[in-house]
Amino acid sequence: MNIESYIRTIPDFPQPGVTFRDFTPLLAHGPAFKALVDQLSARYAEKSIDVVVGIEARGFVLASALAYALGAGTVLIRKAGKLPHQTHAQEYELEYGSSVLEISCDALQAGQRVLVVDDVLATGGTVGAAIKLLQEHFSLALEELVFLIELDDLKGREKLSGLSVHSVFHY
Ligand code: PRP
Ligand code: HPA
Repeated sequence: MNIESYIRTIPDFPQPGVTFRDFTPLLAHGPAFKALVDQLSARYAEKSIDVVVGIEARGFVLASALAYALGAGTVLIRKAGKLPHQTHAQEYELEYGSSVLEISCDALQAGQRVLVVDDVLATGGTVGAAIKLLQEHFSLALEELVFLIELDDLKGREKLSGLSVHSVFHY
């Protein structure tokens, strides 16, 4: 199964000069999606993962499938204003302007073994904010940060020093 063949490249999206890696065909293809989730769950099968944290929105799809395969829970890090209970919030920089991620204050328990999952590691701003939320407010064992796609030229990995990072595909 060539999982990568289900990721398509769209030139000039969402703006001229940007090459967008679109993995929606992979999600839509049952055997490819299953092969991806099986490959990731095999990597963490012996790690006693308690919770897979997903980052809105496309990260949720991968995080929940992986959590199910591992028999772990899923926790959602959402964009501001979506979570109904008390939250911790973290601002982060976008190409133009800034945004805020939030997590419910009671989402995690001390000592839990956690994976953090998102679809794409680009500049690292988004996952950096997620990591701040987790490290500043919870006492966790952060096993690994997991991405389907890493855009190497944007050097997001450099913002994540000291953390273990696994990306399935590099572009
Ligand atoms: C995209 C992607 C990552 C983030 C990566 O999210 O899903 O979360 O950008 O970029 P960065 O490393 O430069 O921060 P987007 O905000 O487009 O969200 P979506 O999943 O809701 O479409
Ligand atoms: N693909 C999907 N999501 C993204 C990308 C990309 O190339 N860059 C930033 N978010």
